[in-house]
Amino acid sequence: MSETSFKSFNASDISLFEMQGIVSSAIAPRPICFASTIDKNGNVNLSPFSYFNVFSYNPPIMVFSPSRRGRDGTTKHTYENLLEVPEVTINIVSYEMVEQMSLASTEYEKGVNEFIKAGFSEVPSDLVQPPRVGESPASFECTIDDIIELGKEGGAGNLVIARVQRVHLNTDFLNEEEKLDPLKLDLVGRMGGSWYTRASGNSLFEIPKPLRTKGIGFDQLPESIRKSTVLTGNNLGRLANQESIPSASEIERVNSEFNLNDLSLDQTHQLAKGILESGDTHKALTILFSKVNE
Ligand SMILES: Cc1cc2nc3c(=O)[nH]c(=O)nc-3n(C[C@H](O)[C@H](O)[C@H](O)COP(=O)(O)O)c2cc1C
Repeated sequence: MSETSFKSFNASDISLFEMQGIVSSAIAPRPICFASTIDKNGNVNLSPFSYFNVFSYNPPIMVFSPSRRGRDGTTKHTYENLLEVPEVTINIVSYEMVEQMSLASTEYEKGVNEFIKAGFSEVPSDLVQPPRVGESPASFECTIDDIIELGKEGGAGNLVIARVQRVHLNTDFLNEEEKLDPLKLDLVGRMGGSWYTRASGNSLFEIPKPLRTKGIGFDQLPESIRKSTVLTGNNLGRLANQESIPSASEIERVNSEFNLNDLSLDQTHQLAKGILESGDTHKALTILFSKVNE
């Protein structure tokens, strides 16, 4: 195996644009906040921001960052509007909306309504003044708790701390339990440069949450399992999430079920990998333990 090499440097050694490229590519995929705001004269603005996330659900707080323009340090209309009218609707972006959303990021003159430019439906909000996007699977009417300026130069972020006051969920995207369904949402995320990602099909997968369970941990996996040439890091992570080491009687049972004495170590690991990936983690772990201390 070739040796891993890293390119390392201090943040102060690179230009603003290099830093933007690195952070936007590495901190990805990012969800997209499609923010609708208004100025003091009631002019509506709609712009996407991927420096965005949710940070609390009690209280429900979302944060996004309309930053100063890298080229000249000027502020964006969204930020200026929020200083005048501290309210926003945060709309979620699905794959069907992505090209129009991108169009809405055009640097139109102040006062231009990107709902009209990008062809989205302007639906009046119930509690705040900025309208919401009718095509969004989910929209959040928010008031602004705080805006934290991170600097005065080009590229400096402005953290907009938005408190959710009202929620709108399009029922087409709910499952039978009335919950948002990741399979229906078809959300998009922003990557570096002009790249996006789509959360659908094979890109979606589940991992059982270790919430109330306490997995045995990597350190409890014997070396012959940890150093397997067959099992991947993901395989080992799933195995170490099991709560108990297989008992002698369990090992005996799988031994006779699969005639494990006739299999080599690699063949046993291949068999366990298949069973693990078909969902029976404990049986896979038991098969692997049958070859420990042999
Ligand atoms: C998907 C996407 C994500 C974006 N994320 C950000 C961001 O997090 N911060 C930012 O300042 N600009 C971001 N932009 C660029 C702004 O949308 C763009 O500068 C827009 O014109 C700002 O509009 P405004 O001046 O009307 O507020 C993003 C653009 C796209 C297409």
